[in-house]
Amino acid sequence: MNKEILRMVQSSIGRKWIVAVTGVLMIGFVVVHMTGNLQMFAGTPDKINGYAHFLKSYPLVLWSFRLGLLATAALHIWGTISLARENRMAKPVGYAVAGRKSRLQVTLTSVTMVISGSILLGFIIFHLLHFTAQMVDRSYASMEAVVGGVTMPDVYRMVVTGFSKPWISIFYVVAMALLFSHLRHGAASVWQTFGLRDRNSAQLIEMGSWILAAVLFFGFSSIPLAVLFGVLKL
Ligand code: HEM
Repeated sequence: MNKEILRMVQSSIGRKWIVAVTGVLMIGFVVVHMTGNLQMFAGTPDKINGYAHFLKSYPLVLWSFRLGLLATAALHIWGTISLARENRMAKPVGYAVAGRKSRLQVTLTSVTMVISGSILLGFIIFHLLHFTAQMVDRSYASMEAVVGGVTMPDVYRMVVTGFSKPWISIFYVVAMALLFSHLRHGAASVWQTFGLRDRNSAQLIEMGSWILAAVLFFGFSSIPLAVLFGVLKL
């Protein structure tokens, strides 16, 4: 790696940019993923099944995307951990003017972000084992549907069967509440990192981040809740 790039990556501003850019990329992914998942409500299982089948029909694109997403998540986690470590070791000189409360607030927010982020990582690992690797319930692998004469995995049946277990649904909704908390802070702080936040825009940024996080919370949670309450059924 070029020395200049290496120095930039090692600087704390460089790492903040890495955390922010990778965060924005992952927000893009969750927005698209939630929109795709809402096809569960299309009134016919064919929609979500056809969509999931389409996404898997170009293995090279799929695997490039998966590796890209993995690298993005790894960089996000690495950047966050190294910045958090550095913050913990740093003397609170910069905060002396702002006063003790401000330092406490900053510390609390970053501790909350590290905790919600770590639990979300646990959720993502469980989620991949659940629906992608299908290791939580082996019966998913044999669920098939025929759409337009083509046999494909029955993702609709898998999701409804999965969320029929209340503990799984409750776990997903709790994880989505953590996603809400993580994104509300995360989406607001990227503007700061990019130098686009000032006194005038702060309120708008806070409100926009809150709305985005809330839309994702309700969009994702609506699926397990709809299964639990019998709105989505087999
Ligand atoms: C209630 C909420 C959610 C539902 C119903 C859901 C549903 C699904 C399903 C059915 C799959 C497998 C698709 C397939 O193999 O055909 C999947 C994959 C995945 N989901 Fe979710 N998901 C939810 C929330 C999330 C969240 C919040 C994240 C990230 C924070 C996420 C990240 C992923 C990833 C990374 C994959 C793997 C994509 C791939 O195969 O390359 N999901 N999800």
